[in-house]
Amino acid sequence: MIEVKIMFKGLWNNSEKIRVPSSINMNSIPKHIAIIMDGNGRWAAKRMLPRNMGHRAGVEALRDVIKTASNIGVKYLTLYAFSTENWKRPDSEVSMLMRLLIEYLRKEIDELHHNNVRIQAIGNIAGLPGEVITEVDRATTKTRFNNGLCVNIALNYGGRSEILNVIRKVGEKIKSNELQIDEIDETLVESLLYTANTPDPELLIRTSGEIRLSNFLLWQCAYSEFWFTDVYWPDFKGEHLLEAISDYQNRQRRFGGV
Ligand code: FPP
Repeated sequence: MIEVKIMFKGLWNNSEKIRVPSSINMNSIPKHIAIIMDGNGRWAAKRMLPRNMGHRAGVEALRDVIKTASNIGVKYLTLYAFSTENWKRPDSEVSMLMRLLIEYLRKEIDELHHNNVRIQAIGNIAGLPGEVITEVDRATTKTRFNNGLCVNIALNYGGRSEILNVIRKVGEKIKSNELQIDEIDETLVESLLYTANTPDPELLIRTSGEIRLSNFLLWQCAYSEFWFTDVYWPDFKGEHLLEAISDYQNRQRRFGGV
């Protein structure tokens, strides 16, 4: 039997309670959790459904995870929604993912805003279809002064291309004499990443049994703790997030020290 603490802190639906296992230390909740939401296609195949249905179910899974993260005081949640490599998928699947994103933002933005959630997008946003850019702009503008959970949606995102952008910007600054080579340090690089002003994720979660980073947050995950689960993303719930956090809290983080 898992003992539970009942939380009343969350605003979500006002009186909704969330159950937190007593194994969780509420004083050391990670500030930033990154998630690779994987397994939508396999979830659908297992049910003999088209892949698109898996993505739809994947969007549904976001609700519980965002609500739980917000209620327990996570400050940043970074979600890998569409990578620079995902353009290789069939056009019909790419269009469906873009449509889902638009639908999600239109449908959920008021509730997210009401719950003090801030939406941000990271990645090459300018390379997305116009309608997606408009919806992302609307959501980020509407929620920009919220100071609860910040949800970073990684769209057209690739870790290598993010680092390449930084290198180009640094090169330009040197060329224009704005910067000297010996002034290049980690603080400067961090200030030029998409995630500027965001602490590195303490915890990275990947669902569906795959054990790799797939070009996600390459710089930022240098010292993150990784947590992998066989659960497919559409089946991932707040309780799995809590399980990952509990596991994280039992690890010793040494950052290269002893
Ligand atoms: C990986 O599953 C998932 C994706 C490429 C997309 C993730 C997107 C969503 C959950 C929905 C859209 C997001 C938002 C923020 C509205 P896969 O297709 O690679 O699954 P598979 O490996 O089993 O084929």
